[in-house]
Amino acid sequence: MRRQLVMGNWKMNGSKAANEELVSVFLGLWQKIGQAEVAFAPPAIYLPQVASLLARSELALAAQDVSAHVDAGAFTGELSSAMLADIGCRYVIVGHSERRAYHGESDQQVAAKALACLARGLTPVVCVGESLAQREADETLAIVGAQLEAVQNLLEPSQLKNIVVAYEPVWAIGTGKTASPEQAQTVHHFIRSRLGEQGAVVRLLYGGSVKASNAAELFAQADIDGALVGGAALNAEEFFQICQAAN
Ligand code: G3P
Repeated sequence: MRRQLVMGNWKMNGSKAANEELVSVFLGLWQKIGQAEVAFAPPAIYLPQVASLLARSELALAAQDVSAHVDAGAFTGELSSAMLADIGCRYVIVGHSERRAYHGESDQQVAAKALACLARGLTPVVCVGESLAQREADETLAIVGAQLEAVQNLLEPSQLKNIVVAYEPVWAIGTGKTASPEQAQTVHHFIRSRLGEQGAVVRLLYGGSVKASNAAELFAQADIDGALVGGAALNAEEFFQICQAAN
């Protein structure tokens, strides 16, 4: 069984001083007992600094987004998967609900970004999830299924097995309203089944108000293989406790 993966999505937070403090405190705690796989996803501007801070550890570096264009080109402001690989990233979050909402990223654009990651040896963490209105309208599986289908239509089955999927119910992100373990397990089982139709067995992360207080019961679910953590990842001690629960 592959190790659980716990990834901290720092979103648009941090400074050189705060990053150094957060990473050094976490490393001081984690190096004694670490078993789960841990990754940090700082803002892109801080990727070189955090890469350097993680250099002597086994912790992974992740980016929060990527261009759908694999190599160099006239794409002002974008970062290619080649550049992220060059700087030492192992993972890239693609299709986060905040990018889908604020930047209009379509299911197809997210799939193209996932493909661009694979083209340069990076593992895309494909984010899927429904809004509160969609859940209340009993559309959760239809929405998540459509988001998955765009990726399944673009990637070959042999490529599909190299992705990670993060189920992040939009109504649980930053709200303190975590999905119940049962709610999360239901959607994770659905995702596992859908990808399994093409022989892809991938790690499924849950994201949405994961805290030290609820991590263990989430990780105990059969189809939850880790977490994508936002706010709690900005506190070294709490993020350590979440990672400890994944051991
Ligand atoms: O990508 C993880 C993030 O969306 C979850 O945020 O603050 O609810 O843990 P948070």
